[in-house]
Amino acid sequence: MVDKRKVRKAVFPVAGLGTRFLPATKAVPKEMLTVVDKPVLQYVVDEALDAGIEHLIFVTGRGKGLIEDYFDIQVELEQTLRERNKTAELTLLESILPEAGSTSFTRQQAPLGLGHAVWCARELVGEEPFALLLPDMIMRGEKGCLKGMVELYEQSGGNVIAVEECDPDQAHKYGIVGVGDKVGEGFKVTQMVEKPAKGTAPSNFFINGRYILQPEIFPILATQERGAGNEIQLTDGMLKLSEAQEFAAYHFKGSTYDCGSKDGFILANVAFALARADIRPTVEKQLAELLNAAK
Ligand code: G1P
Repeated sequence: MVDKRKVRKAVFPVAGLGTRFLPATKAVPKEMLTVVDKPVLQYVVDEALDAGIEHLIFVTGRGKGLIEDYFDIQVELEQTLRERNKTAELTLLESILPEAGSTSFTRQQAPLGLGHAVWCARELVGEEPFALLLPDMIMRGEKGCLKGMVELYEQSGGNVIAVEECDPDQAHKYGIVGVGDKVGEGFKVTQMVEKPAKGTAPSNFFINGRYILQPEIFPILATQERGAGNEIQLTDGMLKLSEAQEFAAYHFKGSTYDCGSKDGFILANVAFALARADIRPTVEKQLAELLNAAK
């Protein structure tokens, strides 16, 4: 029978070294770099909470202590804000504080790949379906990506991965799926391949970093051989799981910014700034001037 138990928990793999953003990431985790005025990770956590997630599981690593502090109370700061009657700022901090006991942290001790990072969360997830959100990718759309996935999951059960279309010549950078029959706002997945060699991708639908997975993925990842990039790949584990369980793809129709790359990070800042009524007028004007001057 299809498993349709509620998706309550979300896993955030945040152990990556962020070498592409050195020297910024020498002392600051890449997930804490800011897009406008929020850390990248806050956007991803907000997307999870908006989809009904109740428990946040962070797979961290050495040098990532700041992430744990960020999701806690900052007593001295709040005291100072209170003394200065900064109520708006206090309210903001209160609104993003997760409920006590609703976060868990574990460590990936060695950088062995995404599949290994997910496996590190097995005890915290337990025997229930879970969401997985890669914090490099932040999204804007009418409906949150994970929220749309949960809706599809409620119809289809099984496993759901979010996909978007990419330029065929970019397919080698991602996990790519094969396209089957239509289901809800997506389709059945017929195939999955991690970073296919140029010209061999089964479609141009790439896995955009959002997943709903069944716990049967864990024993598979426990014995998963290394794949592309000599890393334990989640996509290889999902391919194995697809022999026993259904996978549906949710076709996300918004905009995704890959904050793991410099251009994606800069574009995210511009896009989210332009979406903010308070700063759009000045940013828009000065951006136009910059672009004109650069012609
Ligand atoms: C990972 C996944 C890949 C997915 C991508 C999205 O790759 O393995 O399937 O398409 O995230 O960002 P990575 O970016 O870690 O190389």
